Amino acid sequence: MDQDEKKRRAAAAALEHLGRGGIVGVGTGSTVNFFIDALAGLGRRIEGAVSSSEASTRRLAAHGIRVLDLNEAGELDVYVDGADEATRALHLVKGGGGALTREKIVAAASRRFVCIVDEQKIVERLGRFPLPVEVIPMARSYVARELAARGGDPVWREGCITDNGNHILDVRGLSIADPVAFESELNQLAGVVTVGLFARRPADVLLVGTGAGVVTLERAAGS
Ligand code: 5RP
Repeated sequence: MDQDEKKRRAAAAALEHLGRGGIVGVGTGSTVNFFIDALAGLGRRIEGAVSSSEASTRRLAAHGIRVLDLNEAGELDVYVDGADEATRALHLVKGGGGALTREKIVAAASRRFVCIVDEQKIVERLGRFPLPVEVIPMARSYVARELAARGGDPVWREGCITDNGNHILDVRGLSIADPVAFESELNQLAGVVTVGLFARRPADVLLVGTGAGVVTLERAAGS
C-alpha cells in the first residue's frame, strides 16, 4: 500500500474524533488535505473551521466550508493536523509545509489535538527530519549561529516566506533527547518566532495509518 493511502486512512479516522456542530481546527499538508476532503463529505455536521494556513483556507473554501477567524471562534474542541515526525510519547516535529506558527497557535487554542500520520513518520527519537524554525528575517544569521552552537546544521529554506512574512531555518543533524526542554530553550532565542517541536503541547491522540489499518495512540493523562 502506498503512503498516500495510509495518510488517507488516518485522515478518515479523524472524523470519528469530531463532535457534532462544532468548529474544527484544521492543520496543513497533504495528510490534512485528505482530512479536508473527508470533512466536505460531512455536510452540515460541522459549523465551520479555523485554518492554520492560506493553503488550507483555500481548500476549505473550495469545498464550501466556512472559515472563521480564531479570534471569533474562541476555544476549539478539536484540532486535526499532520506531522513530519512523531514519537510514541506523541511529541512531534512539524513545519515541513512552513505553517508551524499558525499550527502551534491553533493547537494551543484547542482542547484536543488529533494528529494524523502514516506509519513512516513514527520515530524513536525526533531529529531525523530537519527541525523547522521560523525566524524574523533580520535574526536569521544570528539564530543560525545559535542553532549551530547547539549541535545543529541550520539551512535557510531559501525562497520560502511564511504566511507571517518570516523565514525558515531547517536544522539538520539533531538528535533530540529531551524535546520539552529543547523546545523551551529554542523558544528563548531572540528572533525565533516558532520552533517546529510540538512537545510542550503534544498531540493528545495520534492516528497512524498503516497497511493493516489505523493504530490509535493516546497520551496518558498528565503526561
Ligand atoms: C505543515 C506541517 C505538516 O503537518 C507536515 O509537514 C506533514 O505534512 P504531510 O501531511 O504533507 O506529510 O507541519 O507545516
